[in-house]
Amino acid sequence: MKTMNELMLHFMQDILYAEKASLREMAKTAKAVESPELKDLILRHRDQSQQQVSRLERVFDILGKRPRAKVCAAMNGLTEEMEEVVDESDRGPVRDAALIAGLQAVEHYEIARYGAMIAWAKQADLSNAADLLQETLDEEKEADRLYSELAERSLNPEVAAIDESEAEEEPEPEPAQPAPRKRPASRKAKEPEPAPAPAPAKRAPKAAAPKRAARK
Ligand SMILES: [Fe+2]
Ligand SMILES: [Fe+2]
Repeated sequence: MKTMNELMLHFMQDILYAEKASLREMAKTAKAVESPELKDLILRHRDQSQQQVSRLERVFDILGKRPRAKVCAAMNGLTEEMEEVVDESDRGPVRDAALIAGLQAVEHYEIARYGAMIAWAKQADLSNAADLLQETLDEEKEADRLYSELAERSLNPEVAAIDESEAEEEPEPEPAQPAPRKRPASRKAKEPEPAPAPAPAKRAPKAAAPKRAARK
C-alpha cells in the first residue's frame, strides 16, 4: 500500500469480507437467540447488510476495481467469539445478552472501518463513494443504537432478575465451615487501627522545600 487509493482498496476488500462474514453470522445468531424482538432486529439488519454489500460493489465500481474480498481477521475473531457464546450457553436471556454484546462489537468494527473509508473517499474527491459509504455507516449506527436500546430495556433487566431469583433460592452457605479464625482476626485487626498511623513520618523527610527555595 503506497497510495490513498491502494489504502482505500485494501479496506474495501477487508470490509467486503467482513460484511459477508457478518451476514452468515447473523443468520446463525438469529436461530440461537430466544427473544423474538432480538431475532427481528438481527434479521432486519441482515437484510440491510445485503444492501450494504451491493453498495460496496458500487464503490468498487467507482474505484474501477473488481469486488474482491480479503480475509478480515478481526471479523473472524468476533464471529468466533459469538459462536463460543452459543456453545457455552443455553437458549435464554443470558445467551441473548452475550450475543447482543457480540453483535454490537461487529457493528463497532464496521462503524470504525466505514468512518475511515468515508474520510479517505472525501479526501480523494470521491463524493459518490463517500455518500454510499455514509448511507451504510448510518445504518450501522442505527443498528448499534437499536441493540443497545433492546439490551437496556429488556434483556439486561431479565438477566438481573435471574441473578436475583437465584440468590434467593441459594441456601446460606454460612454454617458449613466458615473459617472461624478469620473473623475474630479481622475484627481484632480493625481495633488497633491507630497502629499504622506513623505514615506522616515518611512525609517529613520529603519536605525538602529549601531546595526549591534555593533554586528560586
Ligand atoms: Fe454492515
Ligand atoms: Fe452492521
